[in-house]
Amino acid sequence: MRARVILIIGGGIAAYKSLELIRLLRKRDIAVECVLTESATHFVTPLSVQGLSGAPVHTALLSLAEDSQMDHIALSRSADLLVICPATANLLARMAHGFADDLATTLLLATDTPVMIAPAMNVRMWQHPATQENLRLLQARGCLFVGPDDGEMACGEFGPGRLSEPEAIASAIEDALFSRKPLSGRHVLVTAGPTHEPIDPVRFIANHSSGKQGYAIAAACAQLGAQVTLISGPTALPCPAGVMRVDVITALDMLAACEAALPADCAICAAAVGDWRVTETAMQKRKKAGGEPPSLALVENPDILATLSRPGARRPSLVIGFAAETEALQDHAVAKKKRKGCDWLLANDVSTGTGVFGGEQNRILFLDGDTIEPWPAMPKTGVASALAARIAACFSSSPR
Ligand code: C5P
Repeated sequence: MRARVILIIGGGIAAYKSLELIRLLRKRDIAVECVLTESATHFVTPLSVQGLSGAPVHTALLSLAEDSQMDHIALSRSADLLVICPATANLLARMAHGFADDLATTLLLATDTPVMIAPAMNVRMWQHPATQENLRLLQARGCLFVGPDDGEMACGEFGPGRLSEPEAIASAIEDALFSRKPLSGRHVLVTAGPTHEPIDPVRFIANHSSGKQGYAIAAACAQLGAQVTLISGPTALPCPAGVMRVDVITALDMLAACEAALPADCAICAAAVGDWRVTETAMQKRKKAGGEPPSLALVENPDILATLSRPGARRPSLVIGFAAETEALQDHAVAKKKRKGCDWLLANDVSTGTGVFGGEQNRILFLDGDTIEPWPAMPKTGVASALAARIAACFSSSPR
């Protein structure tokens, strides 16, 4: 066998997919030894797991030594990678807060081996601030995540929270074990999409951003092995494979989510953040009162790019901004880069007729230091790959 994985199976409906994962890993010549939480034993039987893995199955802390001549400390360190699949909201919470009240959590607390987590839970449980907070804690400690995917769930709801497909998890495990990609071990933060700034419960101020460019960048960085957190305003796009998406609505939410996702090695601000929000959002729908239309008092939103670019211990070592302009592209881009304090800036002409907003193509003017480089027109996915390759080159020449 080329490597050894301890697979912790959590108690969720998606646990049955872990059986397929065991089969796929063994086919890839990776040995698997499994630990089932107590509730996992209600979804899959230790006998099936043992049959597929060809190794002892562990369920209880106290019987471990008798079963395997190995204690929990030795077991936790006997593998090249610990994988939790499926990781339930409960297991994530216990792990994030250092509980050691069963064999699975004790192993996780005792280990110094890298940990990969494949979450699976109901969409509301996934989106709950408690789960999102736990996720950030675990990410900051270096845990690797695969998924969750968007899609239909066993409970009938739809959204993020579905376990990634076993094939995708097996590939992520193989990547983590054997291939060091150019951005492996780097945390990249990407903002994408528009923000919605509420006027009242039914109206908001928004813009034409589709999120396509930011999503393509998130996907390209993930393909190069980065751990990507995509902080997205409202869009209709599916979350790219292997990317962790945090959904936000307003500019204030987006800033808070970015700050919570730090530390990051690189931040790419591709979102079209609303420059202003309404000073006081009405609690009830505003009515036409006849006569004069109401006027909206606005207040400026914080600048996320400028905030992330500010010197300090938490500043990502590479901060990249975008400039969507409708005239004097180069002059505005140069001034914007200086004003924001970012390292690189990608400027694009979004005036009517260019088809950039919502379209597939983009034409970039790339600014790095004093260098200004026009890129040829290309698909947004091409811009994303070129940028990801450039980020990888930048990190390969700078020590950690
Ligand atoms: O000032 P302007 O909106 O043209 O700047 C564009 C760049 O700044 C983009 O990278 C955008 O994501 C970022 N930005 C931001 N927060 C704001 C406004 C813009 O991060 N409030």
